[in-house]
Amino acid sequence: EQKQEFSRGLEGVIAAETKIGYVDGINGILAYRGYDIETLTNQSNYEEVSYLLLYGKLPSEKEYIEYVSELKKEMYIEDDVYELIKKISRTAHPMSSLRTVVSYIGGKDKTSVDPDVKQQEEIGIKLIAKMPTIVAAIKRASSGEDFIKPDPELSYAANFFYQSAGRKPDTVEAKMMDTALILHADHGMNASTFSAMLTISTLSDMYSAITSAISTLKGPLHGGANERALALIKETGSPDNAEKVLSEKMEKKEKIMGFGHRVYKVYDPRAKILKGYAEYITKKNGQEKLFQTATKIEDLMVNRLGEKGIFPNVDFYSGILYYSIGFPPDVFTPIFAVGRISGWVARSYEYVQNNRLFRPRSRYAGEKAPRRYVPINERN
Ligand code: CMC
Repeated sequence: EQKQEFSRGLEGVIAAETKIGYVDGINGILAYRGYDIETLTNQSNYEEVSYLLLYGKLPSEKEYIEYVSELKKEMYIEDDVYELIKKISRTAHPMSSLRTVVSYIGGKDKTSVDPDVKQQEEIGIKLIAKMPTIVAAIKRASSGEDFIKPDPELSYAANFFYQSAGRKPDTVEAKMMDTALILHADHGMNASTFSAMLTISTLSDMYSAITSAISTLKGPLHGGANERALALIKETGSPDNAEKVLSEKMEKKEKIMGFGHRVYKVYDPRAKILKGYAEYITKKNGQEKLFQTATKIEDLMVNRLGEKGIFPNVDFYSGILYYSIGFPPDVFTPIFAVGRISGWVARSYEYVQNNRLFRPRSRYAGEKAPRRYVPINERN
């Protein structure tokens, strides 16, 4: 009997068509709707990028004002949501809290019962608007701090910073936050995005799709790597220890977090941009050693594994950056979710407008049927 071909982990499988984003893993290019991320991080802002991902074009001035005011209208969360966050954050990891809170908000919204395409879009915008408020509230509750409500005068990224840190960011901090969110906004059909699309392809609702995406982002092979990358850098402590720490891990065949990528076989273009900011902010805050240790780890890894196409990915320098502006490590992955929410919504919305149920198959490698059923008293 001939074995059916299959692709482990769906590697290389094209399962959908999209006009949203393009990843060229060979040349190290990431573009949203044809605009490369260098251009967008230099010239645009997160609100505009979010609109671009969702609607396929840069907004006119009028469209931009309308979109931003819609986001501001929807950015608030109700008192019972704050209460839930307070309660759950006593014990849960912030990613678990985030998953539960988004699911809870979905349960409160009657349009989530059987949404039409228009309602899916509306829910998507509500979630894009609320995500920074939710994540900031989780950050504060899990650090035992009082909540700070959104400030309608601030931009999306600055507002997220303000609600998390309890102070307004300076210009550079606001730009860094905005850049990090733009860089995380979309990235092909990655695991969490696929998860959102898979959920919505059953004609489930956008809250459920985003809850699936958050659950998927949580894992260490995906969004969870940034927290672990910082832990590695801190554990290494200084550039002099890097060789020893890496060798020990490699001997044990441990993966080095923040390196390697299923698609990029060259330097991740997002990591390049974040590395520049990480250098700036660690210098400013007197944490140069952290950055020097990281670059030493990078040099050693690239020397050893660069030939294999293993380079730093987005998670390697994002951790240092967030840590240096005062975020605790267990909030790094939720920050990733704040950025990625626009990509999740845009891709799920694009998919559901031309929907087809995702339903792959697996190759059966188990016992041949029919097997004789052995009664329980005869089994050994
Ligand atoms: N450290 C050491 N070796 C590695 C690493 C790493 N980080 N990544 C890949 N390799 C080696 C791996 O051991 C394997 O070697 P061999 O051919 O000798 O068995 C080879 O490279 C191919 O690795 P793979 O695991 O089969 O590749 P994949 O495409 O399944 O994995 C990955 C991609 C991202 C899961 C993997 O590189 C990894 O586990 N990296 C660490 C976790 C991480 O940083 N994740 C964040 C990804 S970027 C942001 C995101 O998408 O969330």
